[in-house]
Amino acid sequence: MDYATLGRTGLRISVAGLGCGGFSQLGLARGKSETDAIAIIHQALDLGVNFFDTAAAYGTETVLGKAIKAVRREDVVIATKAPFSFSNNRSAPEEIVASLDKSLRQLDTDYIDVYQLHGVPPSAYDHALNALAPALLKEKAKGKFRHLGITETSPHDLQHETLQRAAQDGVWDVAMVGFHMMHQNARERVFPPTRANRVGTLLMFAVRNIFSQPERLRADMRELAAAGEVPQWLAETPNPLSFLIHEGGATTVPDAAYRFVRREPGVDVVLFGTGDPEHLRTNIASILKPPLPEADRRQLATLFGHLVGVGLDAPHLSRRGPSPSR
Ligand SMILES: NC(=O)c1ccc[n+]([C@@H]2O[C@H](COP(=O)([O-])OP(=O)(O)OC[C@H]3O[C@@H](n4cnc5c(N)ncnc54)[C@H](OP(=O)(O)O)[C@@H]3O)[C@@H](O)[C@H]2O)c1
Repeated sequence: MDYATLGRTGLRISVAGLGCGGFSQLGLARGKSETDAIAIIHQALDLGVNFFDTAAAYGTETVLGKAIKAVRREDVVIATKAPFSFSNNRSAPEEIVASLDKSLRQLDTDYIDVYQLHGVPPSAYDHALNALAPALLKEKAKGKFRHLGITETSPHDLQHETLQRAAQDGVWDVAMVGFHMMHQNARERVFPPTRANRVGTLLMFAVRNIFSQPERLRADMRELAAAGEVPQWLAETPNPLSFLIHEGGATTVPDAAYRFVRREPGVDVVLFGTGDPEHLRTNIASILKPPLPEADRRQLATLFGHLVGVGLDAPHLSRRGPSPSR
């Protein structure tokens, strides 16, 4: 495992972080048992992962709390989130503090390393900054958590307006950002201010459905080609990303996707979500591999560098419809 410093938090964390949400939720969303989910966390620990991201909304805090009993608390870095929903984004400070207390109980821990507001849309940012952050910082002073973070809601914030502000405001030590091979605009919009202000970055949406389900990728390419957004040949080939897979290049599409985000300047930690032991092993290996060949990176920039908002779907919601991102 490689380790990085998470911005100004100073935390040393594994460059591969296990996401306990997304479409898999450690496998629990796909019929796996709590025992299986704990085994996934233990496998990650054995491979050197020390960073785990969960949320009140994921239903995985309790299982994460049980799994980390296997190690010393100080040897893991736990991030969780307040249920700041897109539809109810004027949550009162007391509700957020009550959720923090519940998360501490569910995780069965004395402190949380990174406590984040979950999926804050630009329209609610002032409320998050002026009403919720001050209330949370009082709880931080009591020792309930160590660093305050914020996550964007990628499907509703295609230009990263929330994080552009958050990176400058001095309140949020950590930012979770959506970035992948077909949604690359965080390069200009988020990473320059997070780097300048030493805000730690957690990368989400590296693979999601679009790069883990071949039919989904083909369908999106057909739509994008019909809209004139990508060349027609990408709609007519069974694997539109096959140009990335060759000797000296990527071995699979998920391999390419994780390597692409890992090597982006400004990315501290790549989150990956899985309930599958083999995916866990190969994803960590991908995140630790060298960058994709320069010619492939150039081709990705040429073909997809202008795309915005592709593949940003969320669990339980329609593919393109309005949704909170998880
Ligand atoms: N706004 C927010 O706060 C927000 C939004 C989104 C995500 N997140 C965080 O980011 C984390 C990562 O997002 P994500 O869970 O969507 O992760 P991801 O790594 O982008 O995508 C994982 C998806 O691809 C599948 N997969 C993983 N590895 C694979 C492989 N090698 N081959 C084929 N399929 C593979 C997984 O299912 P299997 O179980 O089959 O592997 C899962 O459905 C989340 O868990 C959450 O912690 C936060």
